[in-house]
Amino acid sequence: MEKKSLIMLIDDEKDLVDMLSFQFQAKGYDTVTASNGLEGLEMLNKVRPDLIVLDLNMPKMGGIEFYQKICGSDGRPAYPVLVLTARANMEQLFKDLEIDGFMAKPFDVDQLIQEAEIIIKKKAQISKVVQQDKKSLLRSVYVIENDQPVREEIALALLRAGYRVACASTGNLANSVAANAANAGLKSYVLIPSNLEQGKVLGSLVYGTNVIGIKGPYDQVNRLCSEIAGKYGWGFVNVNLRPYYAEGSKTMGFEIAEQLGWKLPRHTVACMASGSLLTKIHKAYKEFIDLGIVEQSDFTIHGAQASGCSPISTAFKAGSEMVKPVQNPDTIAKSLAIGTPADGYYAIRSMKETGGSCEDCSDEEIVEGIKLLAETTGIFAETAGGVTVACAKKLIETGKIPKDESAVLCITGHGLKTQEAIIGKVGEPRVIGASLREFEALVADEVNVKS
Ligand SMILES: Cc1ncc(COP(=O)(O)O)c(C=O)c1O
Repeated sequence: MEKKSLIMLIDDEKDLVDMLSFQFQAKGYDTVTASNGLEGLEMLNKVRPDLIVLDLNMPKMGGIEFYQKICGSDGRPAYPVLVLTARANMEQLFKDLEIDGFMAKPFDVDQLIQEAEIIIKKKAQISKVVQQDKKSLLRSVYVIENDQPVREEIALALLRAGYRVACASTGNLANSVAANAANAGLKSYVLIPSNLEQGKVLGSLVYGTNVIGIKGPYDQVNRLCSEIAGKYGWGFVNVNLRPYYAEGSKTMGFEIAEQLGWKLPRHTVACMASGSLLTKIHKAYKEFIDLGIVEQSDFTIHGAQASGCSPISTAFKAGSEMVKPVQNPDTIAKSLAIGTPADGYYAIRSMKETGGSCEDCSDEEIVEGIKLLAETTGIFAETAGGVTVACAKKLIETGKIPKDESAVLCITGHGLKTQEAIIGKVGEPRVIGASLREFEALVADEVNVKS
C-alpha cells in the first residue's frame, strides 16, 4: 500500500486547524497539528512532513521565526512550506523567499487543498529525478538527506573512509585544507588561481598537498572544481561540502562575543569574498542570542570589499539584491577576488537586516589600511585586513559607525602572507656599520644621544 503523505498544520486558530485536518484526511492525507512555531519545531523531532501549512501570526513563536529555524545554511527550508497569512500584500515578500506556496486569509478551502496537492506532487517528482540521477552516477557519491546534521555526518564518514578532500581557494582556505588534511591523514588537492602570492602558495605546499595553479581568476577555478566534484565525487570543502566550511565561519562570531566578555559589539565590519563569513558572523550572533549566551542587543554588520572586485558592495550601494558578476577582478586583495560571490545575496540581506552599510576601497587605501592598523595596534594584516580597516575608516568618516560606539573590525589574515602588496611602500632599513659612532651620527637628530 502506498504510504500516505503527511501534512503538518501550524496555526493558532484551533477551529481552522481542526477543519483543515478533517478535510485533508478525507482526501487521503495524514495530518499532524501544532498551535504555534515552538510546538511545530518539537514535532519535527518526531515526524518528517511532506508539507507544512504555516500560519504567520501566532503567539509564542510566529511563522517567520519558525520558517527561519527550519532553513539550512543555504537559506532554504528543509521542508516544503505553504504560508497562510491575513496580509495579502505580503505575497511579493514570499515570492522572494524559497517558500512553495502562499494563501491569503480568508481562503477557499478547496483551493488550499489543491495548492497543497500541487506542491506535494511537484516535490515527489523532483526527488524521483534526483534518485534517478543518483543511479546513473554511481562513481560519484552524493549525500541526499534532508536533515543537515545527518547529511554532514555521512559526508564526514565518507571523508574518513579515504575519499579525496579538495578545495577551490583564493589562498587561505588552501592553506587550511592542506594543513587539516595532513593532520587527518587524508590525500588533498588544492586548486588556486596561478597568480597567487608566494606566501599563500608556500603555505599550502609545505603540508605536502597537491597544489594545482589554474590559469584564470577564482571563478574559473571554482567552476573546474564543480566539474571534478560532479565527475569524480571528490569532497570539495567549499563546493559540495560547503555547509561545513560555511558553518565553521560562525566561530569568528562566537569568539568575538567571547572576547568581549559575552557581549555583542554595536558594529562589526567584515571583509567579503563570497560573502559567507559576514552571513555566518550574523548567524553566530543570532544563535548566541537565541541560546541566551549573550543578551539581546542592537548590532549592525557592515561589509567591506576591494573596489577592484566589489560585486556585493556595488549591488548594495545601488540598492539592489542582484549581485552582478565581475568578470576580471583586479585588486591586490587577492584573497577577496571572487567575481561571482556565492553568498552575495545573503550578505546583502544580513547587512540590510541589521541596518548595516557596505564600502569598498582602492589598492592605495588597502595599503594605507594595513599601515594604519600596524602602526596603531601592532597587528600586521594581509591585504584583506587592509580592506576591512580602509572601509571601516570610511564608515566612521561618513558617520555610519558613530565614533562613540563599539566596533569590531575582522582582521582575517596575517600580513606575512601578502608581503608583495607592501614591499617598497613601507620604507627600507637604513644600513650602517656595526659601530656606536655611526649609530649616534645616524640618530642624533631623532633622539638625545651624544655624538
Ligand atoms: C583573508 C580572508 N578574509 C576574508 C575572506 C572572506 O571570505 P568569504 O566572504 O568568502 O567568506 C577570505 C576568503 O577567502 C579570506 O581569505
